[in-house]
Amino acid sequence: MNPRPVILLAQASAALAEAGLDSPKADARVLLMSATGLSVTELLTASEIDARACARFDQMIAQRAAGVPVQYLTGEAWFRNVRLEVGSGVFIPRPETELVAGAAIDEALRLKAAGRFGSEPLAVELCAGSGAISAALCDEVPGVRVVAVEKDPVAAGWLRRNLEGTPAEVIEADMADALPGVCGQAAVVVANPPYIPWSQRDGLPIEVRSHDPALALFAADDGLAAIRVVVDVAHRLLQTDGLVVIEHGDDQGPAALEELRRAGFAHRICHRDLAGRPRFVTGRRVSGWDGE
Ligand SMILES: C[S@@+](CC[C@H](N)C(=O)[O-])C[C@H]1O[C@@H](n2cnc3c(N)ncnc32)[C@H](O)[C@@H]1O
Repeated sequence: MNPRPVILLAQASAALAEAGLDSPKADARVLLMSATGLSVTELLTASEIDARACARFDQMIAQRAAGVPVQYLTGEAWFRNVRLEVGSGVFIPRPETELVAGAAIDEALRLKAAGRFGSEPLAVELCAGSGAISAALCDEVPGVRVVAVEKDPVAAGWLRRNLEGTPAEVIEADMADALPGVCGQAAVVVANPPYIPWSQRDGLPIEVRSHDPALALFAADDGLAAIRVVVDVAHRLLQTDGLVVIEHGDDQGPAALEELRRAGFAHRICHRDLAGRPRFVTGRRVSGWDGE
């Protein structure tokens, strides 16, 4: 007879706890749901799991114990209300970025309601990765125009897949040179750029260091190099009164605000996450685009 789900879960949780993982029970449950295709309720009531699903589950638990992120094993990640496909080569969206997306979404909703910038405000996401923020914008702001920019070709593949069927446009390019045709036209520019200093690489959990792509994590100049580029590109792309929203590291709030000041943004605010840590900055473009 095949094993019962409760027995499998207990054994797998013990193995993951022994491997030193933080949430062994939750990981085991999600992986068993993925291996069997059953919901939590169905798992609780199932009398046994078939042999093929058991073998799949055993393999997932072994990979998880070796540090492979749960989302790479299930192939999916949830962000606000959207389901994203993820896998090797793309950054797994983090819960704290949901607040960053929320600031861009609130601004787009506000502009739409006010009829500002036309009925379809343009939102640009720089450093789009899996497209989590862009997908959430499309999901929560009907009619918003979204352009998602990503440099890494592998990440851009995941981005295209996740934004398929949405009105968002994907541009595979370095953000520094992106979108010369929409200068001064965006209502919102949002980014979760790489911001970890290279010097902190060895202190990161092995799961992050070994699986998230380096281009998604690290930036030069104390982790501020990409934030600086985002600030300058946002200044080029935004309309007067347009909002820039940028995620940063816990200790980078003052430096990120200083970058906004340097570029001439007004109404500069550092926002905290649910744990009370400085997490993202916003600023407003105060005069029209003055470039070529
Ligand atoms: C921290 S990840 C964020 C991904 C996604 N926005 C999210 O929040 O889950 C940063 C992303 O920026 C991309 N990236 C890094 N440098 C870039 C550049 N110069 N131009 C465009 N994308 C870049 C990386 O490839 C990576 O996908």
